[in-house]
Amino acid sequence: METKNGKASKPVTEKRLRFYIETYGCQMNEYDSELVRSILLESGFGEAFDPDLADAILLNTCSVRETAHNRVFGRLQSLDRLRAKSEKVVVGVLGCMAQSLKMELLENSIYVDLIAGPDSYRSLPSLIKGTLEGSGKMSAIDLSEFETYDDIYPSRLEGVNAWIAVMRGCDNFCTFCIVPYARGRERSRSVESIVEETRKLADEGYTQVTLLGQNVNSYSHDGRSFADLMNAVSKVVGLKRIRFISPHPKDFPDDLIDCVASNTRVCKHIHLPLQAGSDRILEMMNRDYTAEDYIRLVGKLRDGIADIILTTDIILGFPTETRKEYEDTVKLVEEVRFDSAFIFKYSERKGTVAARRWKDDVPPEEKKYRITRLNEIQKGISLELNRRFIERVMEILVEGPSKRNPDEWSGRTDGNKMVIFPRSHQKSGDYIKVKITGATANTLKGDIV
Ligand code: SAH
Ligand code: SF4
Ligand code: F3S
Repeated sequence: METKNGKASKPVTEKRLRFYIETYGCQMNEYDSELVRSILLESGFGEAFDPDLADAILLNTCSVRETAHNRVFGRLQSLDRLRAKSEKVVVGVLGCMAQSLKMELLENSIYVDLIAGPDSYRSLPSLIKGTLEGSGKMSAIDLSEFETYDDIYPSRLEGVNAWIAVMRGCDNFCTFCIVPYARGRERSRSVESIVEETRKLADEGYTQVTLLGQNVNSYSHDGRSFADLMNAVSKVVGLKRIRFISPHPKDFPDDLIDCVASNTRVCKHIHLPLQAGSDRILEMMNRDYTAEDYIRLVGKLRDGIADIILTTDIILGFPTETRKEYEDTVKLVEEVRFDSAFIFKYSERKGTVAARRWKDDVPPEEKKYRITRLNEIQKGISLELNRRFIERVMEILVEGPSKRNPDEWSGRTDGNKMVIFPRSHQKSGDYIKVKITGATANTLKGDIV
């Protein structure tokens, strides 16, 4: 049998096929790659940890900004060399780019044999085999209102934290955002299945889980809210830390604040995307809150939860945003004093309401000025806030060697601050006490006590 590009097809029954997977984008994609790994291992594939040894190379992709797209296109170009191999290698694009670009990806001259959107991973084994057997390019890009992969236990490789997707999709349609188109409608898993997954994780030795959703606090199943879910998960024996990302400020009821405040296993860190500090821009973004609503919520969180760590996402240079409206965002950042912030330049995404309605009219050099200045301001605030921990003794969950210096290790506090410390005999997964001796805007330094 010959494939369409003229190469000999593989006798797929004779050899154990191997996949290699690379993940881009957010934690939801990390989790999805673990699901994909599980689906493929379960159906007889082996995993290759080197792309050159794989029969199928899968890129689990992100569409959220132009830069994310470009990285994947760059990677696909570098895989072009595989065309020269004597045996066919399948290159597959999974995730949000597959879903948002659809056939455009297959019609392009780049090396892509198959695309599968976030709700189509169960069909991956047959798609890969079909491509290898010569059925040509394959696609599976239907979005589902029901798929939650509830019955699949992800195959996790490493780390002291386990991701658990508790809901999928997003119904908010913020006008700048591709996610609702790439991920489809909101749907939640049952409390029971999430607790069961957590129980298995605790049995395997995980002590920290992070509950994930594009809009995690919209979680709702059989009348049970996100706070109900967290309280149920926190009862799993062996678990010490529960985190969650990302909540939407419009959906932060008092029972959720009480849950974070009173449940000792729920970490005192909230990532609360602000996006903008101008009411006109927030309305154009369809965020459903005003700057004042946001500040009121922050006040409640700070009153209710001692030592709460607050982080955020901000977009600068949304269409028509004036310098004055940008200053409103700066003022809000200075007023709230976030522990840290991810600050992005607006990136027009084809198919979104913002792209259809408004021109991306803030000039690149103006966006650059705005982001550079706000990053500097935020860095100053982060540094000041981090310095308050100096001399304090804090408990950290040890992660592993630090990126810069293998003699130093890193771990995280309950509030998700990274602490670098000189290692003695600690292992990943240990909880240890450190005394903070120094701080930068991004990390703390500490000595074991
Ligand atoms: N569901 C999460 C965010 C998912 S995307 C939430 O609503 O909070 C992560 C972040 O990417 C967003 O918070 C936003 O700040 C940023 N983002 C999304 N679309 C963008 C775009 N078109 N341009 C620039 N930044 C964007
Ligand atoms: Fe995108 Fe808004 Fe949904 Fe977040 S809440 S994923 S920013 S549409
Ligand atoms: Fe990117 Fe999709 Fe996540 S667009 S940010 S990988 S939900």
